[in-house]
Amino acid sequence: MSRLDGQIAIVTAAGGGIGQATARLFIERGAKVIATDIDEAGLAETVELAGGSADIRALKADATSWDDARRAVATAKEAFGGLTTLINVVGGSKPGQTVVDMSVEDWARWVDFNLTSTFLMCKAAIPAIGEADGGAIINVSSGAALTGMMKNPAYVAAKGGVIALTKSLAIDHADQHIRANCVTPGPILTPLMKRNRRPEEIAYMANMTLAGRIGMPHDIAATIAFLCSADGEFINGEVLNVAGGRKGGV
Ligand SMILES: NC(=O)c1ccc[n+]([C@@H]2O[C@H](COP(=O)([O-])OP(=O)(O)OC[C@H]3O[C@@H](n4cnc5c(N)ncnc54)[C@H](O)[C@@H]3O)[C@@H](O)[C@H]2O)c1
Repeated sequence: MSRLDGQIAIVTAAGGGIGQATARLFIERGAKVIATDIDEAGLAETVELAGGSADIRALKADATSWDDARRAVATAKEAFGGLTTLINVVGGSKPGQTVVDMSVEDWARWVDFNLTSTFLMCKAAIPAIGEADGGAIINVSSGAALTGMMKNPAYVAAKGGVIALTKSLAIDHADQHIRANCVTPGPILTPLMKRNRRPEEIAYMANMTLAGRIGMPHDIAATIAFLCSADGEFINGEVLNVAGGRKGGV
């Protein structure tokens, strides 16, 4: 099991789904966590799931806001004395439109939500992680960025941008001892999945994995914990696809 003692992590979108599972696991493994989300009830649930630990602070913050990104970093410094780790989980989409159908405003909104949010949090956090003499950044992209996805072009493009941004971060900040890696989840049973997909679609996606099941938020949280731990020390600028394996054709 990868331990995270001594780490001080910001986890975005920590009020539900993958972010909530990540915040919870980081606490279990010995890290201190600033859990950010726009959903205060979700954050309260995360704190409760973490056993009300003194090592977690909930902060209502919008990951697409530059002011809120800086506030999250300031909170880590005030509460725990610094920052070593940034987990950018925030993102999502609603499939249903091609490029032709999509308004210019919707394109910008999805790119902000999935890609610019990652830029803003990195911009705010990297100086602080540098002051701590290094650490790790994990950006959550999507398997859709590797394969494409029907009628979801802004999401696919933005998540592709998250992968490319991660590779830039790894190169630019290696001299500050900051590693940056990307996780691309496959189908994971979260509120997002339940909003976007009918039960029969979820069953189909589960059947298409070699694991024969849908992914759970813990599957992604455990991968993030590994990448941030000393066990992941030699991994930098990579993309790890966590999707249960995909059945091939015959
Ligand atoms: N669930 C999947 O199958 C799947 C697959 C591939 C990639 N992903 C990616 O994983 C990440 C997490 O997905 P999820 O399924 O856990 O999502 P989710 O929608 O279930 O939960 C996301 C959380 O984000 C919060 N949030 C929404 N807007 C926010 C904002 N502006 N600032 C801060 N918090 C905000 C919500 O309140 C919620 O608590 C996303 O980047 C998503 O694209 C998910």
